[in-house]
Amino acid sequence: MCGIVGGSGKIDFRNYLLSGLKKLEYRGYDSAGLAYCLDGEIKLHKTAGRVESLAAIVPDFSGASAGIAHTRWATHGHPTAKNAHPHVSNQGLFTIVHNGVIENFRFLKQQLTVRGFHFDTDTDTEVIANVLERFYIRSGNVIEAMRQTMENLEGSYALGILFSKEPGRLYFMKKSSPLLLGASNEGTYLASDPVPLIGYSEKFVDLNDGDYGFLEGTEIHLFHDGKALTPTFIKKEADQFTNDLNGYPHYMLKEIEEIPSVLATLRDNYFDGGDFLFDKNLIELLKKTNKVHFLACGTSYYASKMGVKAFRTIGKEAYVSIASEWGYDPYDADPGSVYFLLSQSGETADLIRCQRVLQDRGAITVAITNTKGSTIDRKSTYSCLLYAGLEVAVASTKTYVAQACLVAMLCAAISGFHDIMYDIDSFIGAVRGVIAKKEDIHELARGCTKVKNAFFLGRGVDYISALEGSLKLKEIAYVHAEAYPGGELKHGPLALIEKGVLVVGVVTKPEIAASLRANFEEVKARGGHLLVFASDLVKEPGDAFVCEPIKPFYATMALVVALQYLSYYLALEKGLSIDKPRNLAKSVTVE
Ligand code: M6R
Repeated sequence: MCGIVGGSGKIDFRNYLLSGLKKLEYRGYDSAGLAYCLDGEIKLHKTAGRVESLAAIVPDFSGASAGIAHTRWATHGHPTAKNAHPHVSNQGLFTIVHNGVIENFRFLKQQLTVRGFHFDTDTDTEVIANVLERFYIRSGNVIEAMRQTMENLEGSYALGILFSKEPGRLYFMKKSSPLLLGASNEGTYLASDPVPLIGYSEKFVDLNDGDYGFLEGTEIHLFHDGKALTPTFIKKEADQFTNDLNGYPHYMLKEIEEIPSVLATLRDNYFDGGDFLFDKNLIELLKKTNKVHFLACGTSYYASKMGVKAFRTIGKEAYVSIASEWGYDPYDADPGSVYFLLSQSGETADLIRCQRVLQDRGAITVAITNTKGSTIDRKSTYSCLLYAGLEVAVASTKTYVAQACLVAMLCAAISGFHDIMYDIDSFIGAVRGVIAKKEDIHELARGCTKVKNAFFLGRGVDYISALEGSLKLKEIAYVHAEAYPGGELKHGPLALIEKGVLVVGVVTKPEIAASLRANFEEVKARGGHLLVFASDLVKEPGDAFVCEPIKPFYATMALVVALQYLSYYLALEKGLSIDKPRNLAKSVTVE
């Protein structure tokens, strides 16, 4: 994962690099570092911990001519200052920052060790710096050394490289990790995503795999396969990247409370009051297609499960697979199927692997993503954007409901079900109702601060909400949590239910409420701490939280919003790092 930012020219580097890193912390935040060229020399600062810790040790360096910076999510080696980027080659010729994973780094390290290179860190990145140095020593040409290095690296990389003999230049190369460039009258820029560049550059170059080159002052020199290319600039709307807290203490809370407006925006973007506004070719294709297959990870995987339910409701065969599994075992890559790729970030590496497999097989892919211009968006046959606004908190909240509703709207467009607009409107009302009662959930969370283990139970769509609720509790509140279909409890997990174990039940469907209630009784009989989240349609005395009596497909998602609050408030009560939970990152760009 990791985020990189860099530039060349007359830039206020300290401000640009540190504020850029801060904006990239969603990609990882366990250590940070930067390097710059000042008075012909390269200076380096790095530290374990977050960007604030780095800012505290970095002096003023105005007058620098180029700089690179990095925020890390450890893949190889502990998150220590030693393993933090930038990494320097043995003779000090190359200083580099890297996002990605080098799969053959052990082999390369061995080859270099035999040739007398030594290594001070546990990282794969230090190997790249030395491969570059080795090829540079042979050819005396950095561009040629980069080309040869790319030939030898297996894996993914977006690299920013300072070369000690050309202090104003910033070299770069990219494969399978995002990297884009920007330019202004003051200089040229690179970053893992556009956000650090907003305010510095209005135009961007989205680099392709295999691109490499260098930035020098206001000039971009781009190469591919040994040939020079003219960079193609595109514009990106700055407001797409706005991420103010607007007075909220945490992004997670802000993003939960944006859900009603996210749903309204989604509704208005895809329905004009009379007609659906999806790509007509996509709708015609889906009408003719009998089978759809969803691929995704984490929360997007659970949203895909909701998508499967929606497609089955309109009589289509629908399946879902976890992308990290399917990418290595791509069964059912049926040319007759349409493949939905769900991803908030659009940059999840496991899903990009699936996208490549599908492309190679000529299959039709439909992206459902929040991130315009992301790999999943750009490289899919069709793309439907969520328009949910930037989601900053690591925990996905607003995009979960947006993904599931977008698929439901697609199904409505296929089957001509215009009344879905009333469903969405009543869902918006139900979410507002949940928001209005958030303090009740806060109170429930206060009663859970000692909980170490939790089980989430549901049946049908409510089982999907149980899965999502349990993921949130693990991720944000660090409580070991598992989700089961209610009926599975007695097939094993019931053995673990005892006093102090939290059991959260989700129930919205009248036809299965009775059997789920029976499972809750089994929990109570064993002393479990039971909290039932129910729709008003099926509520019973003693339920912990009740949402409005809307259709189960939507009611269960309103209860997911309530479960998002439960995790949020529990993490708050425990004093945890809510927006940046330990060991995680927002965008998972390594497999
Ligand atoms: O960006 P994506 O939707 O592809 O991300 C997939 C998962 O990494 C993501 O949903 C993750 O599970 C969230 N942190 C859960 O809140």
